[in-house]
Amino acid sequence: MTLWAGRFDSSMSQALWDLSESFSFDRALYRHDIMGSRAHVQGLVRAGILNEAEGGVLLETLEAVEREFTRGEFVRGEGDEDIHTAIERRVTEIAGPVGAKLHTGRSRNDQVATTLRLFTRDAINNTAAVVLDLIDALREIADNNLAVYLPGYTHMQRAQPVLLSHHMQAHCFALLRDVDRLLDARDRMSVSPLGAGAIAGTSLPLDPVFTAKELGFEQAFANSMDATSDRDFVAETLFAMALLGVHYSRLGEELVLWTTAEFGFASLGDDFTTGSSMLPQKKNSDVAELARGKSGRLVGNLTGLLTMLKGLPLAYNRDLQEDKEPLFDSVKTVVNVGTALAGAYRSMTVHAEKMAAAADDELLVAIDIAESLVEAGMPFREAHEIVGGLVGEAVRSGATLESIVASTADLAQYSGLFAQGEALNRRRSPGASGPNAYMVQGYRLGSAVFAAEERLRS
Ligand code: ARG
Repeated sequence: MTLWAGRFDSSMSQALWDLSESFSFDRALYRHDIMGSRAHVQGLVRAGILNEAEGGVLLETLEAVEREFTRGEFVRGEGDEDIHTAIERRVTEIAGPVGAKLHTGRSRNDQVATTLRLFTRDAINNTAAVVLDLIDALREIADNNLAVYLPGYTHMQRAQPVLLSHHMQAHCFALLRDVDRLLDARDRMSVSPLGAGAIAGTSLPLDPVFTAKELGFEQAFANSMDATSDRDFVAETLFAMALLGVHYSRLGEELVLWTTAEFGFASLGDDFTTGSSMLPQKKNSDVAELARGKSGRLVGNLTGLLTMLKGLPLAYNRDLQEDKEPLFDSVKTVVNVGTALAGAYRSMTVHAEKMAAAADDELLVAIDIAESLVEAGMPFREAHEIVGGLVGEAVRSGATLESIVASTADLAQYSGLFAQGEALNRRRSPGASGPNAYMVQGYRLGSAVFAAEERLRS
């Protein structure tokens, strides 16, 4: 029997039940739902709607039900449509008549909004911790390979040699923005909807500010209709996770390339690669491919949610129940992928000689010759033209650019630029890939990570 059977002559059709039940997935919210109920009970006691003894019984019973869930002993009742009805039904079963007072002044509409915010807050904190650990794994590679350099690519064509540390730090800065965005969403959603009721609040003397404080929210809702229908916090979280997924995907794509025989820049540990069921020689970077592939569902979860929200009139509509599965899926995905990527990077061997061989492509020095001419007073466009001509000559004749430079009267003095690593050593603009710049960026990255860690704990 449902909790609202009083108004109905016949019970719900099986088809509607199958369509509308959500317990099969929203049971994942049990801890946060009980957290919300606990605060609600305390609010009812404070308002004098429950006496101390009744409140005590309900709190104890809620704890007992939570234990049943945690131990996997909770048995779903026939009419348990969602996690909220399941818990209320069970509380009433255990506590007796006082259980019938639990839902006083509350609707599942403000309840579910509260529960989901509590869940999302924890999910964001867990995700941020995973991303910070991934950043850590990338920084380890940066810090352990200070002298390693590789080609930097634009258009996937070799552009200029860059330090591996600079390259890895670039990824770190992107991931740090993800952490910041997640925590922005967390802090903005720190508004308690509890007390908004079904749509318009209640005639009972409840104090939403009190329950908001109990639940660790910054503030209570200002408008009950907004409070019960707002899922912006889910959308923001899904966006932050989708963009994080896009960054995971870019890391994945790069790892796939780096671990090919053609690049050979890195290899992953055996514990982070897979073999082939047919081809004995294969060692596949599935972890990287999945990091890339799973970005699809993260973007899909966001677009699905936004599409679901876009036509909804105020206030609560049952469509909103569709907020949960995408959120659960995105949370699970970003945590799984981030954890696996961190492990993969920690298992990774860098093949510095392969990277250097590719970066020592002498054509990558072209810009440094041109900039040397600029330092000698030549307008850049002219210098570009001259060096471009030399590169063209080298490509056409098969002679090395270095030999052509060495045998050109006004340019011979720049032959030294071809020495290995020289181009990198000369790089000195702020934020550039050069040895001095690395220190500054490392410091900035380090303090940004520290600030993010602090914020995560706050
Ligand atoms: N399972 C519902 C959801 O997730 C809970 C709220 C249902 N409220 C209602 N009036 N039917 O949104």
